[in-house]
Amino acid sequence: RILVELVPSILSSDFAHLADEVAAAERGGGTVIHVDVMDGHFVPNITLGPPVVKSLRKVTSLPLDCHLMIENADDFIPAFADAGANWISVHYEACRHLHRTIQLISQHGMKPGVVINPATPVDLLIPVLPMLHHVLIMSVNPGFGGQEFIPYSLTKLSRLRELRQQMGLKFRIEVDGGVAHDTIAAVVEAGAELLVAGSAVFSSGRAEQNARELLAAARK
Ligand code: DX5
Ligand code: ZN
Repeated sequence: RILVELVPSILSSDFAHLADEVAAAERGGGTVIHVDVMDGHFVPNITLGPPVVKSLRKVTSLPLDCHLMIENADDFIPAFADAGANWISVHYEACRHLHRTIQLISQHGMKPGVVINPATPVDLLIPVLPMLHHVLIMSVNPGFGGQEFIPYSLTKLSRLRELRQQMGLKFRIEVDGGVAHDTIAAVVEAGAELLVAGSAVFSSGRAEQNARELLAAARK
């Protein structure tokens, strides 16, 4: 049995019933909750911030995996720590001083990760890989749920797994975007272990069943 975890992304959930949605995803086998933070500058959309993380913290004990699609991430890291975030992912493309930002996340007691967009090569992360708890490969362009999976992401996942092995590291490999019934087996095959899924979990108001089916497809 392959060791993969389903990471439901609340972006596609019903925000008016967030606690229920998260509970359903958890019953279905989700083991980490993915929180998409967008600022309308780095990506063309706006979502939520530390107050929502604080509310989520009260209704789940699962790790809260905050994906920051924002500029000036350093300015907000203390607020996410205070709100109860566990994992923080920052974009390579949005951090001018990435090494410093990663240090800041660790200093605030959270697990640091770096995310790369579809057009960014994996090898650019080599200098910082030893500092990371996880690396997130975007398999769509960030900003919206429900987009189509970009196939070249599979090559990037495999390259990352190869680098991890060559460098003798232990960071975890996460994938985000277009992960659904038709793509989940392929991302696992290519090396992904933390499988973020938004619309595939929360569409049609049946998160528990969707999550269960996705996990079954991932572990086949
Ligand atoms: C997109 C977000 C994703 C989003 C994925 O910018 O980072 O986490 O929720 O949604 P799906 O799984 O529908 O592609
Ligand atoms: Zn995300």
